Amino acid sequence: MAVCSAPGKIILFGEHAVVFGEPALAVAIDLRTTARADSAKQWSINGVPLHDPHYKYVRNAVERSGTVGPLSMTIRSAIPEGSGMGSSAAVTVAALGALHESSHPAEPDLIASEAFDVEHNVQGRASPIDTSTSTHGHAVLVLKKRSSGFLWRLQKGERQWFLHHRDVPPMTFVVGHTGIEAATGPLVEKVRAFCDKDAEGRKMVAEIGQITLEGTEAIREKDWVAVGGLMDRNQKLLNALGVGHEKLDQFIAAVRPFSYGAKLTGAGGGGSMIALTDRPDEVARAIETAGGRAFKVLTGQRGMEVACQ
Ligand code: MEV
Repeated sequence: MAVCSAPGKIILFGEHAVVFGEPALAVAIDLRTTARADSAKQWSINGVPLHDPHYKYVRNAVERSGTVGPLSMTIRSAIPEGSGMGSSAAVTVAALGALHESSHPAEPDLIASEAFDVEHNVQGRASPIDTSTSTHGHAVLVLKKRSSGFLWRLQKGERQWFLHHRDVPPMTFVVGHTGIEAATGPLVEKVRAFCDKDAEGRKMVAEIGQITLEGTEAIREKDWVAVGGLMDRNQKLLNALGVGHEKLDQFIAAVRPFSYGAKLTGAGGGGSMIALTDRPDEVARAIETAGGRAFKVLTGQRGMEVACQ
């Protein structure tokens, strides 16, 4: 029997732009997914066959890892699906960790690479930020070239990403989940279509990359006012790219009096927003009064962890 757990994530800066190779910063959070693999007479996931469409990430992980099996996989997750908190990445990383541990244990860089392939395959287009953050944990900064804290480099066609570890100080974020499940693939495609036909779109993507670099520096300096201002600017650009949602705007307006800044996190189109705050109870209350579900999350959590029994 092999067990692997992997964390969800929130993106502090740079979602969508990172798909084009721009910088982005994400942190692992204290909501996790666990995958368990037991030898069995036939393949199953949570008691249903491997080809069940609900488990396409796990089925892809089985194929990508080359596991022969058959195995009975059990997946348990505390991360709401389609919430922007990295549920599909955590499921993929946890499944790959358990699959490899049950046959040929793998290093994190291999898991990160295979998990990225799985997400890319299922979504149609993706960046490696979610899967690498779930694998490595802590904070992960994507850059266009190799720098200090380098973890690994991942590539798809012309695009490449250099993933780095970053130490970030403790920060308090409250996530506001709209309850609207938005699939990432179509939102990523929408931004691509916009950027393909409009040079303004490409300029916005580049500006988000610049905001990420400034935001990472402001976090290092613990300048929360600057971090919050940059989150607000990032949010305006995400709205302009067409991945916002009126509920996200409502939550962001509701938390404004109690937070340094707020923005959507992940793919958008519903999903969740995050607020940086030192008044988490008031922020959580404001989100719930506006009709959302609030999660106070702890950042900088451990990455994937395997156990074999
Ligand atoms: C989704 O959590 C983040 C996106 O940038 C997509 C990706 O990076 O694959 C929207």
